[in-house]
Amino acid sequence: MKGIILAGGAGSRLYPLTLVASKQLQPVYDKPMVYYPLTTLIEGGIREICLISTPQDLPRFRQLLGDGARFGLAIEYREQARPEGIAQAFLIAESFIGKDAVTLILGDNIFYGGDVFTRAFGDFKSGATILGYHVNDPERYGVVEFDEQGRAVSIEEKPKSPKSNYAVPGLYIYDNEIVNITKNLKPSARGELEITAVNVEYLKRGTLRVQRLARGFAWLDAGTSSSLHDASAYVQTIEKRAGIKIGCPEEAAFRQGFVSLTQLEEIVGKMPNCEYRSYLETEVVAEVKRLLK
Ligand code: TTP
Repeated sequence: MKGIILAGGAGSRLYPLTLVASKQLQPVYDKPMVYYPLTTLIEGGIREICLISTPQDLPRFRQLLGDGARFGLAIEYREQARPEGIAQAFLIAESFIGKDAVTLILGDNIFYGGDVFTRAFGDFKSGATILGYHVNDPERYGVVEFDEQGRAVSIEEKPKSPKSNYAVPGLYIYDNEIVNITKNLKPSARGELEITAVNVEYLKRGTLRVQRLARGFAWLDAGTSSSLHDASAYVQTIEKRAGIKIGCPEEAAFRQGFVSLTQLEEIVGKMPNCEYRSYLETEVVAEVKRLLK
């Protein structure tokens, strides 16, 4: 399974924050937003990642994440010249995807709670798996309607009268058919290759699985000033209460076995003195050493 982080877009709702740094580089409490989706992919066991962003922002992502080696990953970068739709990612990343299945995660989506994705990636064989999450404002998203047996029967993009409260979050798992399906898509009225159109195609083929996320699972999108603030507050609340970090790729990479304890110690040793470093030193490295004794 390969992974794509889509981190382009205009970020107009966060103006003027996004005048000099893209949305996905803005802080969500104590780390850049893109650390959260990156960590989600790592926790799911994905090691080959392609990050797509705008030509202006791509150098900053490279500066932040490099070639991925410090997380035990291989990260490639590709440009999206204009925001012409989420599904365009599969055309931009065609050579990266090759013959594999692929998970696309949006760079401003934050997921927290349980090992849903580890299982979803592990169980995935073919077709498409997307998620359904109960929200208050489904009209802002793609909306899934279910029948009495809990099977998805329709998906509509930003409907005026939503048929359910289940929105489709920005994490999608596809088999290799995705490239062909995207090649045959026509741009929508707003000029975008729509991810909802992709999901509708899988639905028509009878190969779409919609996994409903349980209550208690958190899905936050940080695209407006208010939701960005809410996401920061949420992360701060959990981190302070539990004494753990959400969205810490170094920790996730270590727990997945992508980097060894010695490598992690080296990486941490290069960090400046800060709370992030001391968390990794005390809660991860020292704790593991204590357990190994
Ligand atoms: P949106 O939040 O819908 O769009 P945006 O980021 O451009 O923000 P705004 O509406 O405030 O201008 O996009 C959802 C995510 O998908 C976001 O992380 C950006 C990403 N995206 C791309 O990278 N390329 C695209 O062509 C589109 C449509 C979205």
